[in-house]
Amino acid sequence: MLILEAFFFAIPLYVSNSFASLSMSIPKLKDWSTPIDLGKSINNKRILGDGKTFRGLTFGTFCAIIAGFLQYLFVKKSCINFEYLISFNNASLAFFLITSFLLGFGALVGDSIKSLIKRRVGIKRGRPWPPFDQLDFLVGSILFVSIYYFPGWKIILVLLIATPILHLLSNITAYLLNLKEVWW
Ligand code: CTP
Ligand code: MG
Repeated sequence: MLILEAFFFAIPLYVSNSFASLSMSIPKLKDWSTPIDLGKSINNKRILGDGKTFRGLTFGTFCAIIAGFLQYLFVKKSCINFEYLISFNNASLAFFLITSFLLGFGALVGDSIKSLIKRRVGIKRGRPWPPFDQLDFLVGSILFVSIYYFPGWKIILVLLIATPILHLLSNITAYLLNLKEVWW
């Protein structure tokens, strides 16, 4: 089934984005707050801002790869035959590790490029900038993963429609759980 296949494929990119955000609430990890732009500004505006840290980038990508490994175990080792995951049933461990790395890392690179443009047009860190805040990570991850594996336009379309909705719902949940400072 297309929708399930699309969501299954996208798990590492959602994991990467969520865990990069969650990393600022994890004890010890939250102290590692070196910004990727090292605090530098151009024309009095930060290059990326304090919201893009090496911690988020590393932890998000790491969690995406773990998610990819769990997906492999789920597809290969479970005794149930998941018909709807037909595209992934014969995929190797290497396939899952490479795609999850590219999806996870690509998501955070896309997110950082969005912040770069956001700062240039003068929007402060953490302020909303729809629909770019909702789609940056999806576009980044699809571009990166497509170097190795192109998921097909149908899956991309499903994700383009569903991701902004899921993103908003998960942000509201994280806000209510005090894991995020703002609800958007
Ligand atoms: N985060 C991080 N490193 C990243 C991405 C995210 O540490 N590479 C953490 C930051 O604590 C950030 C939070 O996750 O504040 C939420 O991420 P996001 O909404 O992408 O960043 P914003 O703070 O809103 O910054 P921007 O306006 O640049 O998007
Ligand atoms: Mg934000």
